[in-house]
Amino acid sequence: MTLDIDFVRAQFPAFSEPSLQGQAFFENAGGSYTCKPVIDRLMRYYSQRKVQPYAPYEASRLAGAEMDEARERMAAILGVEVDELSFGPSTTQNTYVLAQAFRQWMKPGDAIIVTNQDHEANTGSWRRLADEGIEIREWQIDPKTGHLNPEDLDPLLDETVRLVCFPHCSNVVGEINPVTEITAIAHAAGAFVCVDGVSYAPHGFANVSDLGPDIYLFSTYKTYGPHQGCMVIRRALAELLPNQGHFFNADTLYKRFTPAGPDHAQIAASAGMADYIELLATHHGAPEGDLTSRAEFVHDLMRAHEVELLQPLLDAVRDRNSVRLLGPDQAEKRAPTVSLSLTQAAEPVAAQLAEEGIMAGGGDFYAVRALQSMGVDPTQGVLRLSFTHYTSKAEVDQLITALDKVL
Ligand SMILES: Cc1ncc(COP(=O)(O)O)c(C=O)c1O
Repeated sequence: MTLDIDFVRAQFPAFSEPSLQGQAFFENAGGSYTCKPVIDRLMRYYSQRKVQPYAPYEASRLAGAEMDEARERMAAILGVEVDELSFGPSTTQNTYVLAQAFRQWMKPGDAIIVTNQDHEANTGSWRRLADEGIEIREWQIDPKTGHLNPEDLDPLLDETVRLVCFPHCSNVVGEINPVTEITAIAHAAGAFVCVDGVSYAPHGFANVSDLGPDIYLFSTYKTYGPHQGCMVIRRALAELLPNQGHFFNADTLYKRFTPAGPDHAQIAASAGMADYIELLATHHGAPEGDLTSRAEFVHDLMRAHEVELLQPLLDAVRDRNSVRLLGPDQAEKRAPTVSLSLTQAAEPVAAQLAEEGIMAGGGDFYAVRALQSMGVDPTQGVLRLSFTHYTSKAEVDQLITALDKVL
């Protein structure tokens, strides 16, 4: 079974939008197009249910029910319990709140391990805890390849380490890290694990229970949904960390780490991501079963399509003299988030690509530490070419032709 790309693209209004015709989108790692079920739900919420939810009148009851539905179905997709999932304004804000909770729970002299592969969202807030007497240890990537070696984690661990933070996949290196293996190493040393899944989730939702971390974060505006951060905190840790919400909400797990009032409409619209996964599962003949297993089926379909389209792109860029490809050159090892360090600043090259109908970006993508450690000047930045399962072979061909012209 292969992905029916025409069916997929029919679920995204952007592909039939006249102003976007002829333009191939390759900045998906920044934010994806939004699928129709999400847009429909958002429209319906704003036109029919835009009242304070959970009150005993019909519009309000429907509003609250739709928010609950979003949490229930997204939790099922991720293989976790409903109250282990919460929505916040963004992943960066979610890690900020989590860092406050860890700050209160940890003692001076305790340690946290961070990487220099992460987007700043899953490292900056943790590093700032050094000001409170927390020791920060950096797990470093290989400066040539950007690879984060699990063997280098072991020497950093001891009984003072409370938390290990790392990405499922870096937004510039693109390599998929072995989360289960790394989590097992950290857990064996008695540490909790926080995984930034933002760059992985657009390529298929992971079963977080099987993966194993205590915290798993991603941003729904990159997974065809509204602009929210989605956060899984497994029960044992969520109950242990001090409540960051209103005191009277302390017993409601999903309210403990979202101090701000949530964006009701966007949470409700997030159920549209589950609709989309269900649509793909049904259309491609996924076996009947729970949403977790149907989401895994869809994950594998997306991944196979992406890997097939990615290898020709990697082949086209890896041997050019004027280009340094960051991360692995084998599609199976990475997400289709391809960063190229050039002999010139990246953004003007992105502007040249725009003239060829390619939407891409250049810059540091908030992965300043990763670029610096690989010897890439963040002010020159990298040209990032990122796609997802809805990208067609014709678009990748268009990109390769355009690259031939501008590089
Ligand atoms: C890997 C990664 N982590 C975290 C973030 C931050 O996400 P948010 O914008 O939701 O704070 C990004 C955003 O680009 C990202 O690429």
